[in-house]
Amino acid sequence: MTDLPALNQQFAVPNAIVIESGINGLPRITIANTLGAAHVYLHGAHVTHFQPAGEQPVLWVSKESNFAEGKPIRGGIPLCWPWFGPHRTDTAKPLHGFARIRSWTIISTAQLSDGRSRVELGLDHDAATLALWPYEFSLRLTVTVGRELEVALTTTNTGRNPFTYDDALHTYFAVADVRQATVEGLDGVAYFDKVAPGGNKVQAGPVTISAETDRVYFAGGPHALVDAVGKRRIAIATSGARASVVWNPWIAKAKAMADFGDEEWPGMLCVETANCLDVATTLLPGTSHTTAASYRVVR
Ligand code: BG6
Repeated sequence: MTDLPALNQQFAVPNAIVIESGINGLPRITIANTLGAAHVYLHGAHVTHFQPAGEQPVLWVSKESNFAEGKPIRGGIPLCWPWFGPHRTDTAKPLHGFARIRSWTIISTAQLSDGRSRVELGLDHDAATLALWPYEFSLRLTVTVGRELEVALTTTNTGRNPFTYDDALHTYFAVADVRQATVEGLDGVAYFDKVAPGGNKVQAGPVTISAETDRVYFAGGPHALVDAVGKRRIAIATSGARASVVWNPWIAKAKAMADFGDEEWPGMLCVETANCLDVATTLLPGTSHTTAASYRVVR
């Protein structure tokens, strides 16, 4: 059991940060300052909510999502790590790795002088992670909440051997109607099409969604998610990322997923900041890499 009073004594910041019992009793950091608000679950270091002051929520979470130990949350910002999608050789291992289904610890909290709030969470290797992936590591996620949301995932190789890993900030954005939403910034970029593999595909113009879409583009940001019906634009800046994934399950796949409402697919679009497939990251012992993204509503 998480000792919420002890966590609050150590990490709460008056008028900004409190640790409370979230959905199904899972511990969550609730951040609310004059610039914006956010929720971060210790389960998966999972950001499930971000809302700049005066704006609608930026992130989407399924009404059917699990909020349970051992299961990923459907929506918000899952962290895919240390592999993306199915494990390359053992499909019995958890999809998208184990970082999103482990409980992280709070490392620090801070209120910044410009009004933003910052939390840092950590996950280090242990016997259970070594059984799934035989490397020693330290992961740190910083989440900074202001007018924009900034998320930075740092991987450090704390062992004696090099390792290669994938990562993704698998962000689910709320949109009014995905059929009229576009992603700008990927024009001319090569991509791997997971729905219809084969051939060398190159994006022409903005990305539009008119069927199941599951693509790994081989470039990072900046991007913009243009929500025409919702009349807003989300500017996405990235660093340390060589891939971007665009995903919407459309009708049949949404129906097939137990933790995704059958009718919910028009209301979301994933635009993910990643290093995966051909652009995974290799770290020598003692070295680190940070993959980061920031999200801002632009009017
Ligand atoms: C996307 C993948 O990033 O995540 C898709 O490219 C996958 O192939 C989707 O279906 C959701 O994955 P999961 O494991 O959360 O259902």
